[in-house]
Formats: sequence, structure tokens, C-alpha cells
Amino acid sequence: MIIAVDGPAGSGKSTVADIVAKKLGFIHFNSGLLYRGITAYLLKNELDINDVKKEDIILETSFIGDVQHVFVNGEDYTPYLRENIVSINSTIVGKNPITRQIVDDCQRTFCSANNCIIDGRDIGTHVFPNAELKFYVDCNVKVRAKRRFLEEQEKNSNVSLKAIEMQIIERDETDKNRKIAPLVQAPDAIYIDTSDLTIDQVVELMMKYYYELGLTQK
Ligand code: CDP
Repeated sequence: MIIAVDGPAGSGKSTVADIVAKKLGFIHFNSGLLYRGITAYLLKNELDINDVKKEDIILETSFIGDVQHVFVNGEDYTPYLRENIVSINSTIVGKNPITRQIVDDCQRTFCSANNCIIDGRDIGTHVFPNAELKFYVDCNVKVRAKRRFLEEQEKNSNVSLKAIEMQIIERDETDKNRKIAPLVQAPDAIYIDTSDLTIDQVVELMMKYYYELGLTQK
């Protein structure tokens, strides 16, 4: 079974997907980490982020304990995935159709063999259009920027709230307007605005829809 959770940066989709996965005994597959992995590989090796060749990249992901690791050409890029520089550039790398093909292949192979809750931008619309349950998780930009700002502070980074808000607005623009698999709500996705909800409330809502699905399928 596939549960798709799409939405913009900082909407909380990854946090709630993680909790729902644990409750259901599913794997939480974070598709953004694959874009981040390719981005980290390009940045760390000082390669052109606009020039990705399929034959140059072997992308793999696996779980070590609870942690999803991302390997490019056999090297583990997991320690770099959450760097702010990787976040900003991952949106540019994600525009490239070749990158998207590499990531699509990797996630389709992994998730077709497992019960997964997958978070991303194009899961319900493009990667798994037949997912049994789909959510579109949204949130106003001020709240999203505040959440990301607190995360950055925990990492002792000195990036300002204003700068993060600007980055988020720019990344939203790119994600929503790219030609291939843009960020958009699938017609059959359940819309959840998390601006005024706690993590527990969002999880509770998702679980309710999951159990309702079970009832309608019986
Ligand atoms: O955690 P955050 O929401 O900031 O980003 P992410 O989910 O880790 O994704 C990083 C970037 O990868 C996004 O800005 C998107 O441009 C791209 N992405 C995508 O295009 N499609 C996906 N299914 C997931 C991520």
C-alpha cells in the first residue's frame, strides 16, 4: 500500500509521515532526501548543478535503523542532506528532467516492494498516481518559515528568519512552476492546512482517513 503526502517546504509533511508510518508499521520514505542526495554529491564534488548525466549517477537509498541513508556512486551523503545550502540548491536540481528520472526509478523500485508512506512534491500526481490514500499538506508561509528558522537555530546556524522566508517563497515558486511534475494538489488528495494544527492533530486526522478507507474497502 502507498500513502502519498505532498506539500511545500516546512508544511510538516515529513514529521507527520514519520509518526503515521510508525503507527501503521509502514516505511516512511522521504523522496526529498533523494533530490538532496544528488545535490550534496554535486556540491561536495564541485560539479555543475545544472548538468546531471544519468550515466554518471548511481543513486541508492536504504534504511539503517530508522534513518534513511542516501548513497551516490557508493558514497553515503546522509550527513550533508539537511544543510541549508543543500536545501536551496535541491530545488534547482529538482527542476532537471534527468534528475527526476533518476529519482523516480529509485523510489518506484523501493516503494513498489514495501508498504510505504512517501512524502514529496509529486508523489500523488506523478510517481504513484494510483496511491490508495493521498494527502496534500499545506501551511501559510510565515508559519513554515518560523518552523524552519527554529530547526536552523538548533543546528547553531545564524541564518535569519527573513532570509528563510525568502528562500521558502523562492523554492515554492520553482516547485510550483517547473515544467515537469510541478507541486500541485492531486484532484483526489485530501487537503490539510497545518497552520493552526499541532503535529498530533495532523497525525490524528490522517489516521482517521486511513481507517475510513479500510471501512469503505471492506
Ligand atoms: O524538507 P523540504 O520540504 O524543505 O524539502 P524536501 O522535501 O527535502 O525536498 C527538497 C527539494 O527536492 C524540494 O524543494 C523539491 O524541489 C525537490 N523535490 C521534488 O521536486 N519532488 C519530490 N517528490 C520531493 C522533493
